[in-house]
Amino acid sequence: MKYSKTFKELDKSQHDRGSFDCGEKELNEFIQTQAAKHMQAGISRTMVLPALLPLPTQKYPICSFYSIAPGSICRDTLPEWMAKKLPRYPIPVFLLAQLAVHKGFHGSGLGKVTLIKALEYLWEINAHMRAYAVVVDCLTTQAQSFYTKYGFDVLCEINGRVRMFIPMKTVGQLFI
Ligand SMILES: CC(C)(COP(=O)(O)OP(=O)(O)OC[C@H]1O[C@@H](n2cnc3c(N)ncnc32)[C@H](O)[C@@H]1OP(=O)(O)O)[C@@H](O)C(=O)NCCC(=O)NCCS
Repeated sequence: MKYSKTFKELDKSQHDRGSFDCGEKELNEFIQTQAAKHMQAGISRTMVLPALLPLPTQKYPICSFYSIAPGSICRDTLPEWMAKKLPRYPIPVFLLAQLAVHKGFHGSGLGKVTLIKALEYLWEINAHMRAYAVVVDCLTTQAQSFYTKYGFDVLCEINGRVRMFIPMKTVGQLFI
């Protein structure tokens, strides 16, 4: 299976959600049953990388996806040297709520591509509506190692998950 060049907004009528399998039940269920509903409700946006060729149903398999949403963090969860420059009310962030690659592509560089595309998209949004950082809640220790590789630092633990972040200023260095 080959993937297309551009990410598209998830569209139930075009993208085959049922065949997506990244090996993590929670993320599979998210793309299969929740992502479209969350978009309809206006609480997050999911972008998918479709396969180049459709299935006999004319729908395109999903090779990878990411979901983003606005969020906020408490400044006290940041390292002191960062916190002291910020106000005491909630700090706006972008939440990289979900990111996953179909298991047929694991280890092929698509995770890196998907993360960079997500960060690039958030950087574009940041030109219109500022946020302090991108935050991700890691489902597994493997996910934590993946994000550490790309410059994310541990922020805190939340609902049993390690929350990581990367400042928007650092993200900007990738794209300017
Ligand atoms: C985590 C995930 C997105 C990585 O995707 P991938 O396509 O396999 O990753 P890539 O091939 O782009 O690898 C990019 C780099 O990350 C490293 N990496 C990939 N998976 C890793 C892991 N589990 N642990 C540590 N490092 C990892 C690779 O070694 C590679 O480094 P290199 O360029 O120096 O060789 C993918 O395995 C996945 O979808 N997993 C299930 C869902 C998940 O856990 N998502 C995170 C949600 S919080």
